[in-house]
Amino acid sequence: MKPRQARREAILAQMGIAPLWRLRAAAGQPGAAAAPPRSAQPRPLPEPPPSADEREARILAMSWAELKQAVPACTACGLHKTRAQTVLGVGDERAEWLLVGEAPGAEEDRLGEPFVGQAGKLLDNMLAALGLKRGDNVYIANVLKCRPPGNRNPEPGETAKCAPHLLRQIGLIRPRLIVALGRIAAQTLLNSDATIASLRGRVHRYAGVPLVVTYHPAYLLRNLPDKSKAWADLVFARRTLASLGGG
Ligand code: URA
Repeated sequence: MKPRQARREAILAQMGIAPLWRLRAAAGQPGAAAAPPRSAQPRPLPEPPPSADEREARILAMSWAELKQAVPACTACGLHKTRAQTVLGVGDERAEWLLVGEAPGAEEDRLGEPFVGQAGKLLDNMLAALGLKRGDNVYIANVLKCRPPGNRNPEPGETAKCAPHLLRQIGLIRPRLIVALGRIAAQTLLNSDATIASLRGRVHRYAGVPLVVTYHPAYLLRNLPDKSKAWADLVFARRTLASLGGG
C-alpha cells in the first residue's frame, strides 16, 4: 500500500470508518480479496411478493393477451417445477358453453391443450351428439393450468393459487353456462364435498354463472353404464342454456 493511502486509511480507522473501497490486487497477488468486491452503493430492497389479494386483483384485470403471457410464467405453486407447459384452455373466447375439467394429464401437458387424450375424444363425441364442437361456441378449460405429477388430485393450495386464472377466463369469455366435468371440478368450483350424484340435475352457480355438473369423461371410460347419466346431464345443460336465452 502506498504511504498516502496508508495514512488515509489510518485516519479513517481512527474515526471509526472503514475504507469504503480499495483497488483490488490482481488475483493471486498479496492483498488479493478472497470474496468478490461488493458495491458500497445502497441497493434497492427487493420487491415483496404481491399479497394474495394484490395478485388476484392483478390477474382479474388482465386482457386475454396478458393472461396468455402470465399463465405460462406462473410460479405461484410447486407445479411449475414439474410441468412441461401450462394448459390455459382452448376454444371460442366468446363461447356460451364453458366446460371445466380438473387438470391437464400427460398428453395435455405435452401438447398444451385440454382434453386431447382418450377422455378428450369421448368429450368431443359427447359435444358432437349435442351438435357442438370445441372452438365453436364452446371453450374448454381446467381448474388447474398445470399437470399434477403422476395425475394426482390437485391440492387445495394449488387450486387456490390457480383460481384467479379461471375466474379471469370466465370474466373474459362471459359464458352463459358452465359445465363442471367430474368430482374434482364440481367440488372445487362449488366449494363442496358433496358427491357428483347429489350435485347432478340442479343448476348451481360459480362466479355468478349458472353451473351444472356431470361425470368426468375419464370416469365414463371406466364406467360405461354411467354414460347415459352423462348424456342426461348434457341434455339438462342444453335445456338450462335454452331457458337462459342461449344455445
Ligand atoms: N382430464 C382433465 O380433467 N382435463 C384435461 O385437460 C384432461 C384430462
